[in-house]
Order: sequence, then structure tokens, then C-alpha cells
Amino acid sequence: MPNMEKSLLPEIVHRRSGRAFSDTPVSDDDVRLILEAGRLAPSCANTQAWDFVVIRSREVLEQAHEALSRGNAWAKNAPLMIVVATREDGGCGAHGLPYHMMDVGLAVENMLLQAVHVGLMGHPTAGWNEERLKTTLGIPEEYRVVTVVFFGHPADPATLDEETKAKEYAPKSRRDLSEIAHWDRW
Ligand SMILES: Cc1cc2nc3c(=O)[nH]c(=O)nc-3n(C[C@H](O)[C@H](O)[C@H](O)COP(=O)(O)O)c2cc1C
Repeated sequence: MPNMEKSLLPEIVHRRSGRAFSDTPVSDDDVRLILEAGRLAPSCANTQAWDFVVIRSREVLEQAHEALSRGNAWAKNAPLMIVVATREDGGCGAHGLPYHMMDVGLAVENMLLQAVHVGLMGHPTAGWNEERLKTTLGIPEEYRVVTVVFFGHPADPATLDEETKAKEYAPKSRRDLSEIAHWDRW
């Protein structure tokens, strides 16, 4: 096994979807860098099929929290929420595949890695009520919310409830490379 720590980007190694956020605000500069990282992502035929609703106001954050699933209550501590939306008829139509979803995924990963680079943590989610979010935030009908990413400064996981803490301390689990990489042919 090569020394992966040595050759992988440190942001990739250290990125994790943590659940303990401090209430320290995210600076304007850091918000700008995260958005820039998303904006610079590659996309199919450069369609850039993403829109970001950036929420930092306490009032709007609290309204948006109403849409969260019970299991995502931890996200209420994050001082920055970026709702990522796309049009199902956006993106490029190659192979009849929903490439707008790939565009969004690439933009989100860029944002997550940029967040790590500036000492922040980002956590993408799918656990929320889409219609409620769209109504609360005025997202146009023809858009779909793909993910809501919570960002903030990491805090001590000891502050979490027992159920959330157990998830927080669970080791990173991934399929082995031998299961997913097919060399020369499947
Ligand atoms: C599209 C997507 C949706 C996710 N939804 C949730 C969610 O609703 N709640 C949650 O706690 N984590 C959510 N996650 C985080 C995953 O559970 C996490 O990425 C996975 O367990 C791997 O852990 P890691 O990101 O720390 O490496 C989501 C991740 C992705 C990419």
C-alpha cells in the first residue's frame, strides 16, 4: 500500500461530514472563496447547471431549519447554509443522462474541499423537505433542490447528543479499491 497521506491532497484526506459546528460566523472572504470554488467547477458543455442560495441571516436560517429532517437537527448549529439547486432541463443532454446532477456534484465537492482549505467543515445533506425549503426561500418552481450544504468551524463533538455523537465517531468506511477499480477490462 503506498503512503496515501503523502500523495493525496490534504483537503481530500481531512474532509469529513462532521456534525459538530461552533457558532463562530464564517467570514465574508471564506464565503466568497467557497462560492468561487463552486463556480470554477467543470460542467458538461460548460452548462454550469447550478444555483446557490447562500444563507447566513439568523432569521432565514431558523426558517429554513423548519424543513430539516429530525436526523439532521445537528445542522441547526451551522452558521452558513448553501442550498444548491438545478433545473432538470438544465445541463447537457448527452446519452440521455442527467448531467446537471454531475455538474452540481462537482461544484459541491469543490466547495467542500475549499472549505477544508480555509479551516472550515462542510456537510452535504439530502434530509429535508424540498417543497418547504423552496417556499421558504422563494426558489422557482422549475428548480429542484439537490443538496443543502452546511458550513462552519468544527467544534468539539462531545457537545453532541449520544445518537449524533455515535455517528460522528464512526470510522470512515469506503469500498475497497479492489472492488471498484477494474483494470484494463471489467
Ligand atoms: C448527496 C448526499 C446527501 C447526504 N445527506 C446527508 C444527510 O441528510 N444527513 C447526514 O447526516 N449526512 C448526509 N450526507 C453525508 C454522508 O452521510 C457522508 O458523506 C458519508 O457518510 C461519508 O462520510 P464522510 O463525508 O465524512 O466521508 C450526505 C452526503 C451526500 C453526498
